[in-house]
Amino acid sequence: MSKGTFYITTPIYYPSDKLHIGNAYSTVAADTAARYKRMRGYDVMFLTGTDEHGMKIEGKAKDAGVTPKEFVDNIVTGAGGIIDLWKLMNISYDRFIRTTDDYHEAAIQRIFKELYDRGAIYKGAYKGHYCTPCESFWTETQLVDGKCPDCGREVKYAEEEAYFFKLSEYTDKIIKLYEEQPEFLEPKSRMNEMMNNFLKPGLDDLCVSRTTFTWGVPVDFDPGHVVYVWVDALFNYMTALGYQNDKYADLEKFWPCDAHFVGKDIVRFHAIIWPAMLMALDLPLPKKVFGHGWLLIGGGKMSKSKGNIVDPTILAPRYGVDALRYFLLREFPFGSDGDFTNELLINRINTDLANDLGNLVSRTVAMAIKYFDGKLPTEREVGDNDAELVSLASALPELYESHMERHAFQSALTEVFRLSSRANKYIDETAPWSLAKDETKRARLATVLYNLLEAIRVSAVLLSPVMPESAEKIFTQIGADGDARTWDSVLSFGALAPDVAVAKGDTLFPRINAEKELAALTGDN
Ligand code: ME8
Ligand code: MG
Repeated sequence: MSKGTFYITTPIYYPSDKLHIGNAYSTVAADTAARYKRMRGYDVMFLTGTDEHGMKIEGKAKDAGVTPKEFVDNIVTGAGGIIDLWKLMNISYDRFIRTTDDYHEAAIQRIFKELYDRGAIYKGAYKGHYCTPCESFWTETQLVDGKCPDCGREVKYAEEEAYFFKLSEYTDKIIKLYEEQPEFLEPKSRMNEMMNNFLKPGLDDLCVSRTTFTWGVPVDFDPGHVVYVWVDALFNYMTALGYQNDKYADLEKFWPCDAHFVGKDIVRFHAIIWPAMLMALDLPLPKKVFGHGWLLIGGGKMSKSKGNIVDPTILAPRYGVDALRYFLLREFPFGSDGDFTNELLINRINTDLANDLGNLVSRTVAMAIKYFDGKLPTEREVGDNDAELVSLASALPELYESHMERHAFQSALTEVFRLSSRANKYIDETAPWSLAKDETKRARLATVLYNLLEAIRVSAVLLSPVMPESAEKIFTQIGADGDARTWDSVLSFGALAPDVAVAKGDTLFPRINAEKELAALTGDN
């Protein structure tokens, strides 16, 4: 029985180069949110894709001596491309949109025409500066030292006939939106940025067509013009559900979107321009835009164009996809920037995954095998130390839920690891190896091991949206069948069969020799 629908999106990526771990960040987070909602019984639509038009791609294709379409095909669907990266990272998207898909291009032409017919778009002349890497227009006064205020790179002066969207009419409407629907844009700090940098000074009309290049969706009623890549891109969230096209018919079911996850650099597009265009079309607005932070290297933004990238195709096979996914969500608060270092990654894996969780699972399973040949007897004897562990495990789902519903992945994971730490301490307190020496303590020993297996099971269920493969492996080792892997099963302690049988498995998270690894990674770079 479905609890309702949940529609979540990532940004659609520019296939201008290989993606880096910073790009994977939005997608891993959205994947985790999608898996969490599926676990909770929601009918989920998780959309991702690629943003394939624009001057930047056209230029890159030219440099590479291929057509733009050949260029993007290679990066999106080619070996080692974006789709392969999402496979590697175990991204469970339900739909993948490419803005070069025919249905999307045709829909964008209809949308542009509709905006024009409604008087939301008019023809004028553009005089200003264009930042190609950001695909952004700037006026003279917005430039900082003559450079792009967003990325600090060179801009190009342009003067051309162009269409404009009457964004200036929306300043008050967007302010009102923020006031009436404060959860529309999170975290709070992003709303302050939008207010101070764009809304208080007042919005300018936005140039929404170009004539100086051709790699874009043509404006069908005015040859020579192509639709501005951000208009083309933002509407992906609706065309992918069937807006202005017959390819899909999911609009009624999934729109308005529950959460757009985007990096902080593109909040302006999602929290100002996007709702303004939707208002112009009298369409319902998304419920939430979440502007997450950046992964930095040495304090600077990791970026394709800067070249200081950290390659997930090196890190994931080396440490395991789940370890990498876990690190990204556990190390940094989702709304803030985080400085990526190999040391942090390795420490996090060793401390939480190898020492804490991995050790807990392997010790517990090994003891069940050693003392009971892998199958617990059903006699029980409660002891002093049980209550605290059981109550921690029982209280965990509600705490976890409150964090996950706010996309506070770091807090949710921190709570889960409180339980595995507590369980490790419970082993020390109960000293199963001593109990095993006393024939009269069989029931007590079985109870201790059962409680440990339960604590592991609860942790694995709650970790499964972040570490789906590891959760499966843990379930197999601790003898948790399908019914003991669900959200409902963690709401009460004791879902494992009393005579549960465990199975020894491979080490879940091998401990990393930090010194050796750091040297090897530096060698790779
Ligand atoms: O902006 N840390 O695409 P894009 C965290 N096509 N996130 C990062 C990051 C980093 N170091 N570097 C990039 C676009 N990102 C548009 C989107 S949506 C209708 C169109 C994030 O490939 C960035 O913030 O430049 C953005 O959310 C995403 O990667 C895609 O960036
Ligand atoms: Mg970018």
